[in-house]
Amino acid sequence: MSVDRGHVIVTGGAGYIGSHACKALSAAGFVPVAFDNLSTGWAQAVKYGPLEIGDLMDRARLDAVFAKYRPVAVMHFAALSLVGESMQFPGRYWRENVTGALNLIEAALRTDCKDFIFSSTCATFGDHDGVTLTEETEQRPINAYGGSKKAIEEMLRDFAESDGLGHVIFRYFNVAGADPECEIGELHRPETHLIPIVIEATQGKRESVAVFGDDYPTPDGTCIRDYVHVVDLVNAHIAGLEWRLAGKENRAFNLGTGHGYSVREVIDTVKRVTNAPLTVQQAPRRAGDASYLVSGSQRAIEELTWRPLRSSLETIVEDAYQWHQSGISDQWLAEGRDPSGRT
Ligand code: UFG
Repeated sequence: MSVDRGHVIVTGGAGYIGSHACKALSAAGFVPVAFDNLSTGWAQAVKYGPLEIGDLMDRARLDAVFAKYRPVAVMHFAALSLVGESMQFPGRYWRENVTGALNLIEAALRTDCKDFIFSSTCATFGDHDGVTLTEETEQRPINAYGGSKKAIEEMLRDFAESDGLGHVIFRYFNVAGADPECEIGELHRPETHLIPIVIEATQGKRESVAVFGDDYPTPDGTCIRDYVHVVDLVNAHIAGLEWRLAGKENRAFNLGTGHGYSVREVIDTVKRVTNAPLTVQQAPRRAGDASYLVSGSQRAIEELTWRPLRSSLETIVEDAYQWHQSGISDQWLAEGRDPSGRT
């Protein structure tokens, strides 16, 4: 589809999830404007609309971009998002995530842009000992990352009250996989996420994979997570945007599949899909990790008619592996984050 339904500002649009959201927005007839400081993203991932290089701490720059495009909505992905790092540097997480979101909300409101799609996380729930997490579960984060995202959720509710800011909150479980057409995919440096780390080890780019903790109260002692394909995840965002543009209520949705896999099961799946040798080592627990994070996503399925069609663990790993084998991420690494030298 290529009807122009207006611009959508996508913060973090050069990043992993943001770039996949831009592709989905473009397919749905919107023009995605990637707003990104390229601190962790890649200019090469911005293929579906303009790139505006800027930082959420720069309010004048935000105002200039909103004035230029007069967007119909905002999708906010840009954030620090590593659980372990947030335990080491909580100040950075509270400052950058919360102030960045505040600056963005106020800039949007100044141009009367009142539909806000927010990337939140299951880390806002904390550890509930094997209980499936629904939207009704109490949010009691156990790390600064989850704490900062929960604060932004509260901020959105306050601005909804004061200024009529419309919003949809998505709480992601573990996002993985890549664009099946292999135009974009996951590339973090340093990489900390389990699936790309295991794939890199099968490619000989790492000597081994460390399993963080084997004494959790789970069947094999390793942490259990609910993995959701990035394409399914961004399709929910399009449904959330349509929901808001149709004037429906402000709402929070969990996005996962309802199935949990342990770290060891993920490693076994990657071994099976890639058929490659792998060295696995046991390591201590990583600070801030919950033992069990599995989503009850019935609300998104029922209300948004969301269908996580690519989110079997096999398909997630196959798509991620295809991306890692394509050589595109190696090319981006060789070129640097911004081949045109703007940053
Ligand atoms: N893990 C290892 N070895 C590694 C990397 C990870 O054992 O080398 C383990 C982790 O300890 C964890 C699981 O694999 O138990 C998944 O870890 P990831 O780092 O892939 O993902 P997280 O669950 O820590 O975090 C991700 C996102 C967050 C989001 C969270 C929700 O990074 O933004 O999912 O669970 F909030």
